[in-house]
Amino acid sequence: MTTPTPLAVVTGPSRGIGRATALALAARRTRLALVGRASDELESVLVECTEAGSPEARLFPTDLRDLEATARAGAAVLRELGVPDVVIHNAGVVHRRSVEELDLELFREQLDVNLGAPYALTRALLPALRAAGRGRILFVGSISGTLGTPRLSAYCASKWGVIGFMKSLAEEISDSGLMTCAILPGSVPTRMLEGSGFPPRMTTEDVARTLTFFALDAPLAHNGAVVEMFGV
Ligand SMILES: NC(=O)c1ccc[n+]([C@@H]2O[C@H](COP(=O)([O-])OP(=O)(O)OC[C@H]3O[C@@H](n4cnc5c(N)ncnc54)[C@H](OP(=O)(O)O)[C@@H]3O)[C@@H](O)[C@H]2O)c1
Repeated sequence: MTTPTPLAVVTGPSRGIGRATALALAARRTRLALVGRASDELESVLVECTEAGSPEARLFPTDLRDLEATARAGAAVLRELGVPDVVIHNAGVVHRRSVEELDLELFREQLDVNLGAPYALTRALLPALRAAGRGRILFVGSISGTLGTPRLSAYCASKWGVIGFMKSLAEEISDSGLMTCAILPGSVPTRMLEGSGFPPRMTTEDVARTLTFFALDAPLAHNGAVVEMFGV
């Protein structure tokens, strides 16, 4: 059950899928905690969310490569806005490199932002969600989390990891009033897709609408679901 003005945490809302999702939630009068790296783009999204109908939108500037800072952002959300109804782990990064070209720094960045940050933020929020007996924890995975792709080893590993993490979390939170699921988009025309050679198969709004459904409307019986969006 969501509260009349639900609070949603969205990571990586500065552009792309995260921005579209924040705006879609704002249009449903959701309060928003926007967690992302400080930038002019992020500031603009904050204004756009208010204009789109969010009664309260706040920035929590965080570099999600830093997992301790990510946990602190979760604590700040609880302190300043209260217990969220929805958490959307959207932020992601890709570096296209063969395994030989993939140095430790780029490997770690993809694992930390794509998998470590969702872990750190979930862990920071979970006790409060459990105490409240409600909360939806959504992960933006990828079709890349179901297959292997040349020059995407770390990205694919992080997205396979997201599914394993979510599935285990789903088992841990069943019967608690909470739910979790993962949305796996195919190719979406965002900055991340640039230079990939993959043609877009859906819009950012398609993914945002799907996330909004699971954030606000879907039955909790979807706990543990993996929703593949191959596109058209
Ligand atoms: N586009 C696709 O085809 C596609 C397909 C499947 C899944 N996905 C997934 O969809 C999600 C959103 O991606 P997108 O396509 O919208 O890409 P995007 O336009 O590149 O947006 C990525 C977002 O993640 C944020 N981010 C990256 N590194 C960060 C860091 N260290 N700290 C804080 N924020 C960080 C970016 O913020 P900054 O402005 O600070 O960089 C940006 O807001 C990702 O999880 C991605 O893996 C995308």
